[in-house]
Amino acid sequence: MDDLSGPLPMPPLPPEARTRLEAFYQHITEISPSLVGYPCSQDFDYPELAPFLRYPLNNCGDPFADSIYRENSFPFEREVIGVFQKHLRAPVDQTWGYVTSGGTEGNLYGLYLARELFPEGVVYFSEHTHYSAAKIVRVLGARSIMIRGQDNGEIDYDDLRETLRLHRDVPPILFANIGTTMHGAVDDLVKIRSILKELAITRHYIHADAALSGMILPWVARPQPFGFDAGIDSIAVSGHKFTGSPVPCGVVLARRSHTERVARSVEYVGVMDTTILGSRSALGPLVLWSAFQRWGEDGMRKRVAGCLEVADHAIARFHAAGLPAWRHENSITVVFPRPGDEVIRRWQIAPHEHIAHLITMPHVTRETVDQVVADVAASLRSRTGNSSGSADPPNPFHPRSSPDSLPISLL
Ligand SMILES: Cc1ncc(COP(=O)(O)O)c(C=O)c1O
Repeated sequence: MDDLSGPLPMPPLPPEARTRLEAFYQHITEISPSLVGYPCSQDFDYPELAPFLRYPLNNCGDPFADSIYRENSFPFEREVIGVFQKHLRAPVDQTWGYVTSGGTEGNLYGLYLARELFPEGVVYFSEHTHYSAAKIVRVLGARSIMIRGQDNGEIDYDDLRETLRLHRDVPPILFANIGTTMHGAVDDLVKIRSILKELAITRHYIHADAALSGMILPWVARPQPFGFDAGIDSIAVSGHKFTGSPVPCGVVLARRSHTERVARSVEYVGVMDTTILGSRSALGPLVLWSAFQRWGEDGMRKRVAGCLEVADHAIARFHAAGLPAWRHENSITVVFPRPGDEVIRRWQIAPHEHIAHLITMPHVTRETVDQVVADVAASLRSRTGNSSGSADPPNPFHPRSSPDSLPISLL
C-alpha cells in the first residue's frame, strides 16, 4: 500500500510530455525573430526569477496595505509602482497604483474609477482606440460615444468639441490614447483640456491608455504630454510591451482621491480590496522590478533611442523600395501599405484595413527590417504588377489619407 500520510512528491514529467515541450520550445525559438508586428519586447532574460516558480506567490489585494497571506511580492510591487510614478510624473502622495495583468485591466480599472465618480458619465473615445475600450464600457454598462479619428490616428478634436458641446450636461469620461495600437498616435491632452475649458466643463475624468508609449515617452528628449502633469486622472501601461516580460503584466496608476472611493476591506485575506482581480500575479511585479534593476534609466533611454533609429531605418528602406511609410514623432510604430496575407503571416504583422505596421521593438534588427521590406515590396509588386515595387493605386493607405497629411516628412 502507498503511504499517503505526507505530501506526495510531484511525479516527473512523462517522456512524451517532455518531448512535446521541447518541440514547442524549438518552435517558439524559431518563430521569435519574425515577431515584428506586435509590441512585445523579446530582449530579456530573468533567470534569477526561475526559483520562484516553486512557490504559490500571490499578490491578492492592495500592495500598500497589510495582508495575512504573506507569500506575496508586495515590497517589490511597491518599488515598481514608485518607478512608474516617477516616470509617469505622478505625485507620490496623491496617486496610487498596482501591477495589473496588462493594459486591458488598467483600462478597465481607470474606467471603473471614472464610472464610480460619475455614474451618469459618458465615455468618449476615438475610432482608433484599442478594442478593449468598447468592451469595457459594455462590461461597466456605461454610455459611450465614439469620436471620429484623423487619418494619422489622433482623435478628431473638432468632432470631440462638437459632441461634448451637445452633451454638456453630462460629465465626460475621456479615454485618451497615448499611442494608438495601429498608428502609434498620441491624442493631444493639452488640446483636449482646452476644449473642456472652452466649454466650461469642470467635472470630467481623463484616462490615458499608454499601453506601449507609456514606457517610451519617459525616455525621449521631447515627449508629447502624457503623464499626470498633463492633467490625467489615471493611466494604464502594459509591462510586457516595452519593458519586456515573459508573462503579461502592466501597471495602472490613478489619483488617490478616486481609488479611495472604491476600497473595501476583506476580512478573509486581511487585505484592502482596491484592485479589480482577487488573486494577482506576484511574478509580474518581480519581472518589472528586475527589468528596472537591470536596465536602469540610462539603459531604458538607450533602448528607446535604438528602437527609434531602427524605425527610421525601416522608413528609409520602404522609401528606397518606392513605398510610402511613416511614423509619429517618438513612436516606433512604422505604418506602411498592407501587404498580402502570406507576408502578414510570415512576419506576424498587424493589419488594419488598408494599412499595416511593424513595431521596431528592441529585438527587431535592421537585417530583419530589410527582409520585411523586401517581402512587403515583392508582395505589393505581385499584387499590382508594378515592377518598380511602388504600390499602385498610388495611395494604398487609408482612403481618406493623402501623403501631405502624414505625420513625418520622410515621404
Ligand atoms: C493602445 C493599446 N491599449 C491597450 C492594449 C491592451 O493591452 P494588453 O494586451 O496588455 O491588455 C493594447 C494592446 O496592444 C494597445 O495597443
